[in-house]
Amino acid sequence: LGRPGAAFKADIAVDPVEGTSYLVRGQTNALAVLAVAPRGAMMNPGPAFYMEKFVASAPARGKIDPRWPTEQKISALAEALGKDVEDLTVFVLEKPRHRELVEAIISTGARVALYPAGDVAGALMAAIPGSGIDALMGTGGTPEGVMSACAIRAIGGEFLARLDPQLQTEAKAVKEAGIDTARWYERDEIITSDNVFFCATGITTGLMLEGVERTKTHYKVQTMMITGATGERQILTTYMPSERMAAIAARDVA
Ligand code: FBP
Repeated sequence: LGRPGAAFKADIAVDPVEGTSYLVRGQTNALAVLAVAPRGAMMNPGPAFYMEKFVASAPARGKIDPRWPTEQKISALAEALGKDVEDLTVFVLEKPRHRELVEAIISTGARVALYPAGDVAGALMAAIPGSGIDALMGTGGTPEGVMSACAIRAIGGEFLARLDPQLQTEAKAVKEAGIDTARWYERDEIITSDNVFFCATGITTGLMLEGVERTKTHYKVQTMMITGATGERQILTTYMPSERMAAIAARDVA
């Protein structure tokens, strides 16, 4: 990220288990996520835990106004991606708050992929052409949004967000902080530098990454690494001897 040997001051966002409920139920798509940006380059959402997000791949960038009704967004998305509306799949978290959104998407003829958790994986898939997911819509966590925006700035996709408090205490704190919840932020306002780094390691196997495989001889993990400075996206598979892993665990406990 910085010049070798030079001090690099960074903002680091970490979610050691993104999709905790997935993991406890042994379901797919749980990830360990880390995002790094130069100090001050990541949006500080203050007391807001939740944000509404619109994510899509690069061809949709600048072509969709998130304030449009859902039907208009879907039809503009189809045009931007050169697809029929019926061939679009939109990732939405399966939450009661999204009932109307889901109905509106389905009424256009597009498909909805409903997941109980894990909108970082959803955002990544929405930004990566050919992943099977064309967009992410709806409200999820703010830290997850900021980390996703880091990855998506590096990939080159679209990420738009609006702070959208869901809890009473959160709404009160957001109001007191003078935050305008009607304002949509552009991707480059959320992450103000190209010099970002993002990595996500599969914990349970999902649509993008394999989960941790543990045998008597080795651990195998798969990590997606995205480097903003070059736009490179790599999938790294690491095999670690079990004794080495045990030594690391023992050192961490000590
Ligand atoms: P964690 O497991 O890291 O808590 O987050 C899972 C998650 O589904 C995120 O992907 C999403 O942004 C957020 O929770 C949505 O929160 P909620 O389940 O409270 O609506």
